[in-house]
Amino acid sequence: MSLMTDFLPFLICPYCVTGSLQLTTGPTGASHHENATLRCLHCARTTDVIDGIWHAMGTHRASHSLAQLSNLAAPTARWYEDVWRKRSLSLLSGRPFPNNEELIELTSALVPGPGRFMLDVACSEGLYARALARAGSPVIAVDHSVVFLKKLRARCEREDLQVLPVRALAQHLPVADSMMAGVAIGGSLNEIGDAKQAVVEMARVLDADGHFFSMHLLRSHTWKGRAAQLLAGPAGIRFPTLSGTHQLLRDGGLVASAVRTDGVVARVTAERDRRES
Ligand SMILES: C[S@@+](CC[C@H](N)C(=O)[O-])C[C@H]1O[C@@H](n2cnc3c(N)ncnc32)[C@H](O)[C@@H]1O
Ligand SMILES: [Zn+2]
Repeated sequence: MSLMTDFLPFLICPYCVTGSLQLTTGPTGASHHENATLRCLHCARTTDVIDGIWHAMGTHRASHSLAQLSNLAAPTARWYEDVWRKRSLSLLSGRPFPNNEELIELTSALVPGPGRFMLDVACSEGLYARALARAGSPVIAVDHSVVFLKKLRARCEREDLQVLPVRALAQHLPVADSMMAGVAIGGSLNEIGDAKQAVVEMARVLDADGHFFSMHLLRSHTWKGRAAQLLAGPAGIRFPTLSGTHQLLRDGGLVASAVRTDGVVARVTAERDRRES
């Protein structure tokens, strides 16, 4: 079975952002390492799938805050999930908070399953994408870092998960309108750059009954925590308040239906604002 063929109806041209896509060459190669060329039925421009990764930045370039730059580099990707991600929520929430608990919250919110296509935005190694795919959902996993997408591909290949790695920006998702049953973003709203535009895009691709899940860090109430967060500011990392989070979602067309917080660690489930549809 070809990953690319399964996902094709859900993708749009990253150049004109309207056209659906057609295979002109391929897919060839082994599963998780396919090669193909896609042609836009609207503007006729082409994009490539190379060794299993769809390169869909279009005319956009990654914005380069210090935090974003560090994610383009191999050393960050080498340690990220195994070392930092495993421990970070316990450190930041002030209580034991294993990844499994977070993933149960994710899957309870998004209800993954066969035929329910989902999107993991700014996925890194795909902690969320893999959890959703293990539950049966086909998952489009977007990140602007090829280094991370290669790690994601290796992890998904090991478990033969139906996850398509896509190099694109959260602010310009090459995904068709209203096609995703779930959209997840884990730990990335803090460092994504233009968070409002990213939320607008995530709301656009969510179907009318779809669910959105974000885990992100809130502004600290303690002076020590706030001082540390202020130091992260120049690196491009932002910490919204809870009301700032609600505002950010509303501005993008989403309404929060459930919020959990432990220390600065927030988990927010949201749906599309019905007044917008
Ligand atoms: C905190 S890590 C994400 C962690 C991952 N979601 C998880 O749950 O383990 C941030 C990720 O966002 C990606 N990133 C940052 N800005 C981005 C943008 N504007 N578009 C796409 N990816 C972006 C980085 O390359 C990095 O992989
Ligand atoms: Zn096009």
